[in-house]
Amino acid sequence: MSSKAKFHAIRGTRDLLPQETALWNHVESTAHDVFGAFGFGEIRVPIFEPTELFARAVGGDTDIVSKEMYTFADRAEEGRDSKIDPSASSLATSVSLRPEATASVCRAYIEHNMQQLPQPVKMYYMGPMFRRERPQKGRYRQFYQIGAEVLGGNDAPAIDAEVIEMVMAFFDKLELPGLELDINSIGHNAPDCRPKYVELLRTELRKVKEQLGPDSQRRIETNPLRVLDSKVESEQGIIASLPHIADHLCEACGAHYAEVKKQLQLRGVIYRENWRLVRGLDYYMRTTFEITAKGLGSQNAVCGGGRYDGLVELLGGPPTKGIGFAIGEDRLILSLQDAGKGAVQQGRDIYIAWMGEHAYASAVRTAKFLRNAGFSVELPPTEQKFGKALERASKLDSRYALILGDNEVSEGVFTLKTLADGTQQKLTEPELLEFLQKL
Ligand code: HAM
Repeated sequence: MSSKAKFHAIRGTRDLLPQETALWNHVESTAHDVFGAFGFGEIRVPIFEPTELFARAVGGDTDIVSKEMYTFADRAEEGRDSKIDPSASSLATSVSLRPEATASVCRAYIEHNMQQLPQPVKMYYMGPMFRRERPQKGRYRQFYQIGAEVLGGNDAPAIDAEVIEMVMAFFDKLELPGLELDINSIGHNAPDCRPKYVELLRTELRKVKEQLGPDSQRRIETNPLRVLDSKVESEQGIIASLPHIADHLCEACGAHYAEVKKQLQLRGVIYRENWRLVRGLDYYMRTTFEITAKGLGSQNAVCGGGRYDGLVELLGGPPTKGIGFAIGEDRLILSLQDAGKGAVQQGRDIYIAWMGEHAYASAVRTAKFLRNAGFSVELPPTEQKFGKALERASKLDSRYALILGDNEVSEGVFTLKTLADGTQQKLTEPELLEFLQKL
């Protein structure tokens, strides 16, 4: 006998079962409503893209690209591709499951010449992303993001503020308590701005190198900004005394940051300035922000975002300003559940308890017309004894049992039983519909 090993979802992936997806659907439909109210339209981009797109956009040296992507070689299509492009015949292209969607949205902006649309173009998306991280609570290898991007020719601080206002309005609508919004500006890549600060930081860090752990020591040379991200307890005192980037921004970035803060105040958005907020993707400049929520343990960032002027250009498009964010939907759901806001799957409106062959034909017809009228109806496929039928009806959390036996069929009525209190009434078909529709 061969042993039949059971299959399990791959580590870091999971099934979302019907009792959970009710809350996911609620979250997603709230996103459609809120983002729609701010004039954003939904975009759906592919799950996989050329590896090079993410390498160039997110950055080849970032953890995401260097360690966490699911990358594979895709064979060129025999014949087809080689006819269009003879060099394609033998070349396998490297593709990757998307670790994030900002790069894809920018690619789509370029590919569809969206710079010709009324500017800025405001788009949102939702769906699975893939990163090969160590799984733990709130951290998965297939996780879900809800994100938004604003692309166009304008980098007015009001756009930054409105994007942040929108994501906060979304969380508010979901009644997610205990949120904290951190903001920062990381300036831009010009000699009198971020690079100057990075050099200063490097010089300061070299002086205290011996007191830092191996990761931070390495980062002094590779990417000193990431030292600010360190969670290592013994490094915190040293980091606290390092120079702040806000004091070393160029004039234009300083002014932009000041105006973003003013615009947030105008909108009543409460924020905290966090000079250590640097973010782990290469495309950011100027405004960065992160939102943390309660009930999540160490993986408490529920949203991250920032400005990325120049990314579209880097991907071969026209000079374009951009800003956006992505919410970790899995974490948002965990936090909502922790706050006791977990919507549960709805039970049935009506369970049809039919008995007898004549009743069955009538039950099928009734199920059809009630479902058409918008009720959720359970029609058992085989006959059940009366007691058994009622037991199942309440197990399925039904509000009513519609009883259809030979008597009802010959009288042309239905017996409607309210399961909460056990009361019963006899109704004709029009009366039944009228009664149910009044609810
Ligand atoms: P990110 O900070 O890499 O930014 O991810 C955004 C959010 O996705 C995180 O704050 C977190 O809630 C969630 N997330 C990330 N990795 C995981 C994981 N392994 N498991 C569960 N949740 C996770 C971006 O992805 C940028 N594309 C955001 C953006 C859009 N910036 C501008 N526009």
